[in-house]
Amino acid sequence: MGDGKGDARGVREAAGRTQDPWVDPLAHLKSSHVGRPLPRRDGLEKVTGAAPFAAEFRYEGMTYAALVHSTVARGRIASIDTAAAEAAPGVVLVMTHRNAPPMNPSPLFMMERQAAGGDTLAPMQDGEIHWNGQPVAVVLAETQEQADHARSLVRVTYDVDPACTAFVESVATETEQAMMFGRPQQVMIADAEADLAAAPFRVDRRYRTPRHNHNAIELHAVTLRWQDGELFVHDSTQGVSYMANSLARIFGLDIAKVHVSSPFVGGAFGGKFLWQHHPLAAAASLLAGRPVRLALSREGVYRTVGGRAMTEQRVAIGARADGHFTALIHTGTVAIGRHNQLAEPFIAPARTHYAADAFALDVRLTRMDMLANTFMRAPGEAVGSFALESAIDELAEELGIDPIDLRMRNEPERDPTSGLPFSTRNLAQAYRIGAERFGWRHRTSVPRSRREGEWLVGLGCASGGYHYARMPGAAARITLSAQGRAHIAIAAHEMGMGTATVQAQHAADRLGLPVEAVTITVGDTSLPGVVVAGASQQTAAIGGAIIASQQHLVAELLGLAGNGSPLAGLDAREVGCIDGGLARIDAPDCRESYRTILERAGLDEISVIGEPLAAEEAFAWSMHSYSAMFCEVRVNAVTGETRVSRMTGVFDCGRVLNPRTAGSQVRGGMIMGIGLALMEETLFDERGGRIMNPSLSEYHIPTLADVPAIDVAWVDEPDPQAPMGAHGVGEIGITGTAAAIANAIYNATGRRLYQTPFTLEHLL
Ligand code: MOS
Repeated sequence: MGDGKGDARGVREAAGRTQDPWVDPLAHLKSSHVGRPLPRRDGLEKVTGAAPFAAEFRYEGMTYAALVHSTVARGRIASIDTAAAEAAPGVVLVMTHRNAPPMNPSPLFMMERQAAGGDTLAPMQDGEIHWNGQPVAVVLAETQEQADHARSLVRVTYDVDPACTAFVESVATETEQAMMFGRPQQVMIADAEADLAAAPFRVDRRYRTPRHNHNAIELHAVTLRWQDGELFVHDSTQGVSYMANSLARIFGLDIAKVHVSSPFVGGAFGGKFLWQHHPLAAAASLLAGRPVRLALSREGVYRTVGGRAMTEQRVAIGARADGHFTALIHTGTVAIGRHNQLAEPFIAPARTHYAADAFALDVRLTRMDMLANTFMRAPGEAVGSFALESAIDELAEELGIDPIDLRMRNEPERDPTSGLPFSTRNLAQAYRIGAERFGWRHRTSVPRSRREGEWLVGLGCASGGYHYARMPGAAARITLSAQGRAHIAIAAHEMGMGTATVQAQHAADRLGLPVEAVTITVGDTSLPGVVVAGASQQTAAIGGAIIASQQHLVAELLGLAGNGSPLAGLDAREVGCIDGGLARIDAPDCRESYRTILERAGLDEISVIGEPLAAEEAFAWSMHSYSAMFCEVRVNAVTGETRVSRMTGVFDCGRVLNPRTAGSQVRGGMIMGIGLALMEETLFDERGGRIMNPSLSEYHIPTLADVPAIDVAWVDEPDPQAPMGAHGVGEIGITGTAAAIANAIYNATGRRLYQTPFTLEHLL
C-alpha cells in the first residue's frame, strides 16, 4: 500500500498527465475570481420573468394535456369511458392504453448509463394498474382549462387485485438485500452484535422516517413537438442527456433524434428525472400530430413523481467508559415500489463518520404496490444522519461526555469501512468554529434546565456529511475570441444554484480573463458533455471539464503560435494562462496575448473540447463534505409546539467557490432539514395506497415564519484531489439538521424523539 499520495499520483498518471491537472501553475500570480461572493448572473432574468421555464415555451398549434390517475393500487382497468370527455369543448383526443402508441420501458435511473427512468414500466401499454395514482388517460385540448374539465369526465372502473400497501405486512411477507451499483448495501466488520452485548455502555434504538416529496416550486412540466421523426422537448430536468437517452429508448429512436432543452429549472432536489408524464406527453403529441404542453398540477406531481422512501432504522452503539466505540450497528428497512431499485442508503453516514472496532451496517428493502420512490436531497444521509446522530447524542448522555467531545474521541484516521485515506477531513475544525460562533459552552447538559415563560429552550448539535463524486463524461467547449472573450458551452444545468456564475468565475481564473469576459450556456443536449445535476457533483464535473478544455486550448494555441512567437518550441505543460494570454510558467514575462496568437494565425476565434479527465479520485480517496450543525429550539411547554430559534452550520466543503451562492445552497438545505425534522410527511393511506396530502396546503414545508436567522460559516480548506479544490454543497446542508433539532428538543424537554416529523403530539 502506498501512503495515499502515491495512490493519487497513480490516478493522475492514469489520466495521462505528469503535471497535476487541477493545479493552475500561474494561480499565485493572478487575483482570483473564485472565492468572491458574486451575485447570480441569472438573477435579473429570473426576477423580471425573462428566464424561460419549460411550461412557458410556445409552439404553433399547441395542445394542453391533463392526466387521469388511477384510484386503486393494483388490478386492471375493467372499463374506461372517454365518450363524454371526447365530446367536451376543445378536446383534441383522449389517449388510454387502447390507443397509446407502442412505448418501451425506460432505462432505470442509476442502473444504466444516462438513464433517467423512475420505473421500468412501459407507460400505458396495457390496462394493468401498478400504483394508486398511475396515469390511465391523457386528455389533450385546445386550452388547459378545457383539458382539465374533460379529464373530470373520464369514467374508469377497475378489476381490483389485492395490493400490499401496508409496511408491516410487507416486511412480514418479504424483504431483500438492498443493492447499490450492483453491490449489497451492507458492511460487516468483526462481530458487532457480540461487541455490543459486551459493551459497558450502549444505546440501541429504532427510528422511523416517513415518505417525503421534493416539492420544487416549479411544477414538473414538458412542452414538446415531433418534427420529421425527431422529438424536441423543453423540460424541467436535472439531466438533459439522461432524458434524451431515455426518451430515445422508450420510442426506439436514435439518441441524436431527441433534443432536450432545459435552460432554467425551478428546483428539483432529485425529483426531476424521467417520470411517466414525459413519454405520455410525447405519445399524445404523436397521436394528435400537434405539439403538447403537459404541466403537472401539484397533485399530479404527487401521483406521478416518486419521492423519498420511508425508512425504519436501528442504530446501536457499544462504547467503553472513555467513549471509544466498540460496535456500530445501523440496519433497517426501506419500502420501495415493485418496479425500481432505489433503496434509501441510510447507512451512508455510519460507513464513514466514526471509528469503531466492529460494524454491522445493512439496508434491507421491502416492495409494496405503490409509486416508485426516488432520491431526494442527500439520499440516505438526510434520514440516516437523523438516526445515527440522535443515537450519538443519547450515548453521550449515557457516558456523561459532551456530545462534541464524544464525536472527536471517535474520529477515524482513515475511512473506517473502506480503508481509504481521507482526502481532507476538517470536521473537528468545523466543530471548533461552530461551538464558538453558536456559544456551545452556554449549554447545560441537564435537560429542561432553561425555561423562558412557556418556552423550554434547548441546544443540540449533530454532524452531517455527504460524499464527493464526479461522474465521468463531462466535456465543455471553450470558444476563445481574438477580442479576449471566452464562451463555455456544456450540457449542464442551472436549477437555481448559481452554476453559470460560479463556473464563469472558475473559467475566468483558468483562462486569465476578467469574469465579465466569460459567458456560459448550459441546459441543452446540443451542447457538449454528459452531465447530471445530482449527487452534489455537477460543480466538480463541470470544473474538471473546463480544466481539461483549458489545457487542450493551451496546446492548440501553442500549436498556432508557431515560430514567430516567444513561446515557440514550448510544451503545453510549460505554459499557463494569465492576463489574456499565454505565459511561460517558469518565466511569466515571456508571454503572448490570445489576440496576437489568433490574429497571426488569421483566426477570429478558436473552439476546443478537451477529453474528459478520468474521474477516479473518489476511488483512491475517501472524499466527503462535512458539517457541524448547531441548533437552538424553543418548545412550548403548554402546546408542544417546537420553534427553531437559532441555527449555525459550519461546512467543510473544500474550497468555497462563491460564498454567496454556496451559502444559499446550504441555507436552503438547512431549511429543508427543518422541514424534515418538524413538518414534512407524505401521508400514505396504508389501506388503499393513496397519498392523502398531495398539496402544499396539507404537506407542510417551512415558511418564512418557521425559519430563524441561519448562521453559516466555512472551513474553506481546498481539497487537492478535487478540481478547483471544491466539494459539492447541494446536499450537505440538510444532513445532520434533523438530529441537531432532535437533540436540541431533548435538551429542552427531556423527551427523546425517534420518529420524524416531531409534531406537537409527541411533545405533550
Ligand atoms: Mo440530488 S437527490 O442527487 O438531486
